[in-house]
Amino acid sequence: MDKLVIEGGVSLSGEIVISGAKNAALPILCAALLTGETMTFSNLPRLKDVTTLLDLLAQMGVRVAPEGERRVSLNADGLNNPSALYDLVRTMRASILVLGPLLARCGEARVSLPGGCAIGARPVDQHIKGLQAMGAEIRVEQGYIHAKAKRLRGARVCTDMVTVTGTENLIMAASLAEGETIIENAAREPEVADLANCLARMGARISGAGTDVIRVQGVERLSGAEYAIMPDRIETGTYLCAAAATGGKVRLSNTSAAYLDAIIDKLMDAGCEFDLARDAITLQAPARLKSVSLRTAPYPAFPTDMQAQFMAINCVADGVATIRETIFENRFMHVAELQRLGADIQIEGNNAIVRGVAGLQGANVMATDLRASASLVVAALAARGETRIDRIYHLDRGYENMAEKLSALGAKARRI
Ligand code: UD1
Repeated sequence: MDKLVIEGGVSLSGEIVISGAKNAALPILCAALLTGETMTFSNLPRLKDVTTLLDLLAQMGVRVAPEGERRVSLNADGLNNPSALYDLVRTMRASILVLGPLLARCGEARVSLPGGCAIGARPVDQHIKGLQAMGAEIRVEQGYIHAKAKRLRGARVCTDMVTVTGTENLIMAASLAEGETIIENAAREPEVADLANCLARMGARISGAGTDVIRVQGVERLSGAEYAIMPDRIETGTYLCAAAATGGKVRLSNTSAAYLDAIIDKLMDAGCEFDLARDAITLQAPARLKSVSLRTAPYPAFPTDMQAQFMAINCVADGVATIRETIFENRFMHVAELQRLGADIQIEGNNAIVRGVAGLQGANVMATDLRASASLVVAALAARGETRIDRIYHLDRGYENMAEKLSALGAKARRI
């Protein structure tokens, strides 16, 4: 199994290019199921999760034609197998995003339940509830969701909690439904708006994406389109943390500060300085960071996907920070690993109290989930000596060429 070996203590400096957003690419690729015409996507990140989804779409009868490294054309004209089997779905929860489009386009879908996940129970009851409100008949049997609907009907849906993929599934389903769907308590994440922009290019009639009430006027059919995926704000935030933790100065291009307010504000509180251009962000870190407390919540508040990386920078900051996780019930698995590097962290329920220490020391650690792995990378870069991070297949799900990008910033990082 591949490991990432990092010799810490080097201040990061230089420039790297940020990839397209994983969490936008996944729903947007699923949108190709909604039309028989060709969709062409660019700025596609080269990630394991993207390959998994393309394999899943191919199994359904979608023609997948890569066009170079970051472009792919999909054609779902021959879509003949509206099902997503457990083997692929269990490796990636976001596979649930095929449910809404399959049902809307084929009138039926059979999708495996994503099952348990390391960071929490993560049920999909809201996806099901929304589709039922639109007239779908849904049975859950032997670990599969069986959904049927001749044609979905527009409905008013208010989700019990803010769910990102739930909102995305419902928008896609509603695009081909008869009449108007109103989604209340919708997720406001920029990736939801990116999906809506792509659907609009295909001829969907959607308003309010990016707010908590989204209205979709269903249309009879959608057409093919070209679409460029937005930059990855979580990858951006992760490299900002890596630079901050090492007292570095980096420029990240092909990205935008537009969706990073909560992250940039916290890094400024920690003492970092920024130069923001239209499509690039430059960060200059102080010699020692100040601790920053935070609480995760749906966008535009602080993202849960950046919680672990901020935990890592607080480990080496001056002061005491409280980090409160409100989205997932089991998202502190990085704590035990950070402690192996010498971090001083105490857990009280869904709060972590982090006391900054003068320095971390390298050790062997284990990646437990995608963003937890990213926090170990940030901490390892700041630590003295060598850290070996095991199970980095988690990192490959969401970070393109991480070892190469870190090396380009001067880090001593290699994959073995
Ligand atoms: C998406 C992101 C993930 C991010 C998360 C929260 C993608 C592919 N993934 O995941 O990176 O960490 O948003 O920002 O975009 N819930 C239910 N029932 C449901 C749906 C959700 O109880 O039917 C709960 C979940 O267990 C969780 C909370 O709602 O506690 C938010 O989950 P949700 O926004 O759905 O996360 P994902 O869309 O899976």
